[in-house]
This record gives sequence, structure tokens and C-alpha cells, in this order.
Amino acid sequence: MRSFMGRDILSLKDFERQEFTHIFGVARFMEDIARKRRNVDMLADKTMVVAFYQPSTRTRLAHEAAMHRLGGHVTGIADAKMTRAGDWYQESIKDTVKMLEFYGDVIVMRHFKQGAPAEAAKWASVPIINGGDGWGEHPTQILTDFYTVWREKGRLDGLKWLAVGDMRMRTMHSLAYGLTQFDCPITFVSPPEMSLTEEMKAELKNYSLDYKEAEHVEQAIAEADVILVEPVVQPDYTQARQEAGEHGFTPANYKITRELLQTKAKSDAILLHSLPRMDEIPPDVDITRWSRYWQEAYNGVVMRMALLGLVLGAME
Ligand code: CP
Repeated sequence: MRSFMGRDILSLKDFERQEFTHIFGVARFMEDIARKRRNVDMLADKTMVVAFYQPSTRTRLAHEAAMHRLGGHVTGIADAKMTRAGDWYQESIKDTVKMLEFYGDVIVMRHFKQGAPAEAAKWASVPIINGGDGWGEHPTQILTDFYTVWREKGRLDGLKWLAVGDMRMRTMHSLAYGLTQFDCPITFVSPPEMSLTEEMKAELKNYSLDYKEAEHVEQAIAEADVILVEPVVQPDYTQARQEAGEHGFTPANYKITRELLQTKAKSDAILLHSLPRMDEIPPDVDITRWSRYWQEAYNGVVMRMALLGLVLGAME
């Protein structure tokens, strides 16, 4: 297996099967540190730079919390508008990254432009972690989700997935690529205008992903072991930022309600959502035996601890 030291984390297309399980093992080790709520000194001599060109609550702060937990240092850009990359100059990724690489030892980037972290990786001498790029990918989120399933079920192979939401979403792309390494059939449910593109379908067939599509969650929920939900009411991920405005409600086809879970879902299925949510999972689902999104959020810190430990060479 290739070492993770110094590696960029850009896409789950780059991950081999045994690399997933290796990361899960490291995350399991980190979980004990996170649970104690006492920072250690594993990365005391390292600094993480965040470069966020789009809003984020979880991805940026989970990386920062992970770095603090491991005793490391954090600097960077939480709002690119307040830098030369986001003002009149519109400084290029290359010029920005050629600075940031001297400010720390790893860069976590979120960008509205698909491929921006890969562009950064071309120029940076330190590892780049993709924190979400346009409609591209969100690898650290799906690694978190896979870890949550692995911890709950003890395996990924043999589990049936249901993914509900906008299939243009970066999380959905990373999910599909990641599942190609496991024996995990998946059903995608999305509005027609948000369905998998023909290009993506061809790619997934090429990777031998066992997938099908359905129109309504009711058609697929009964056989699902893992239900992963994302909004269909959401901003345009190719924009730097959008203000709240008028928006519609989620149609029943793409909504997971308490009643649906009680009447149709497997009793031991688990429900994931990377958050933020709109109305696709009503709050009365939070305290049910299916919901795991708060555990998923906790694992978001654990997984980032594992990734930072690995790419910075503190863990093998
Ligand atoms: N799950 C996720 O990516 O959340 P943020 O947009 O808050 O980072």
C-alpha cells in the first residue's frame, strides 16, 4: 500500500480498497483521543492552512478542531472575499498557493470551481486536502460517512445503499467513486433535472458500480441498510456564496420522514446526512433509532484527525 505521507487528498477515485480500511483503522485510534477531550502533541510541530473560498461550518471547523486535538497550529482564509484572491485582484490559485505553502505544512481548500484543489496541488509543495470543489468531490465527507458505517456495521461489503438528493452534488460523486471499491449496490433517487449525468453513468459503469435509479424513496427504502440524504433545495455550488432567498419545499419523493422510516425502512438501517439540511429530514427524525448524522458529525473530526496524522507523517 502506498504511504499517505505527503499525499494530496483530492478524489476518492484515487483510493484503493485497502487504503480505505487502513484509514478506518487510524481513525479508530484517533477516536479514543477525541473522546478524552484532551489535546495531544502529535502534530505540535505542524501548521495547517485553511483556504476556504466558499462558506462552511463543518468541513473547516472539523479540520481545525482535528488539528487542535493533535496539538497542531491553524492559520488561513475563512472568507476569501477578505483576501486578494477574492477582491479586485482575483489572485490566481497558483499565486495564492505559492504563498500559502510557506505558511504551513498542509492546505485544506474549499472552492466553488471544480478542480481548484487539483490545480493547487500542481503548485504546492505541501499536501492539499480537498474540502469540496464546486460540483466536483468532497472526499473527506464521504470518508467520514464510510467510517460511520464501518463503526456501526463493522463492514461495508454486502450493505445496500440508498442515496437521495441532487446527484450533481460533490458528496454524491465521492460516494459513487468510493463505493466502487466495495460490494455495495446503491439506488440513486433524485429529481430528473438533478440525476446522474450520462458522463457520470458511463464512468460508474466503467468502474463496475452496481447502481440503479428510482423516482421515489418509497421504491427503494425497504431494502436499504444505509440511507444517505442530501438536499434537493440548495444553493448553486459553483457560486462563491449565495444569500438566503425564496426557496421551495422538498417534494415527498426526496424526503425521509419518521413515518416512512417506521413503516418502510429496515429496523437496523442507518440514516446519514452530511448537513446542512433543509426540510428533507424533519427534526422529529433526530431522536429515532435510524438517525446517525450527529455521530457522523463527531466522526468528521475523528476522520480529519486521521487524515492529518497520515498526510503529515505522524501516523503510518
Ligand atoms: N458537510 C459539509 O460539507 O458541511 P459544511 O458545508 O458546513 O462544511
